[in-house]
Amino acid sequence: MKLLVVKNYDEMSKVAAKELAEVISKKPESILGLATGGTPVGMYKELIDMHKNEELDFSKVTTVNLDEYVGLSGEHDQSYRYFMDSNLFNHVNIRKEYTYVPNGLAEDMHQECVNYDKRIEELGGIDVQVLGIGSNGHIGFNEPSDTLSLGTHVTDLAESTIEANSRYFASKEEVPTKALTMGLGAIMKAKKILLMVSGESKAEIMDKVVNGKITTQVPASFLQMHKDVVLIIDEDAARKIK
Ligand code: F6R
Repeated sequence: MKLLVVKNYDEMSKVAAKELAEVISKKPESILGLATGGTPVGMYKELIDMHKNEELDFSKVTTVNLDEYVGLSGEHDQSYRYFMDSNLFNHVNIRKEYTYVPNGLAEDMHQECVNYDKRIEELGGIDVQVLGIGSNGHIGFNEPSDTLSLGTHVTDLAESTIEANSRYFASKEEVPTKALTMGLGAIMKAKKILLMVSGESKAEIMDKVVNGKITTQVPASFLQMHKDVVLIIDEDAARKIK
């Protein structure tokens, strides 16, 4: 794992955007694995700026997102489809039909999961996967548990995840309790992984992720086994890493 400790959120966003832009420049038809949440918002802003000022070209890029809430349509302003459209896709020259987010309203959830994995495989896998992390060590919505799934699956969100994400909803009761998420398989098969981490609330878990034993109770600890992970972490989040 390559560790890049940066000063703050803004610097993390700039460094991550540069890494991603480099991948796109080298391979314009890149398959990008993308994340939502507070962590990557600044990076998406940087990428939009690069598109506008430096002509970073998304015209051949394909994206696959990590997850989506079960029960929310893409028009719901808290859905991850809506997040991606408003934070990135609507502002760059990407082909919308090549941006994939799991369908939170699929009638047959099992089939939706099978299709999602099949799509990733048919695309030839992910060139670079962007990840944030939950303060409980989740990546995507692979929550701490006795077992982890390789494939895309429906999962119950951990209480701490519902609590953390309630900041975006009118009340905690409105946060969906289930999500569709890519499994550890597709994430670990990505050629490169950019793990972005910012803020005090992630400090406790990060020592376990980097130095702890590999365990399903800290899903991000599996990243220790990946050969090309760049961890871009700000000083507040890196404080407890030994
Ligand atoms: C989002 C995702 C989650 C978030 C994590 C951190 O697509 O997969 O794993 O990356 O919950 O969320 P923030 O960035 O809001 O702290």
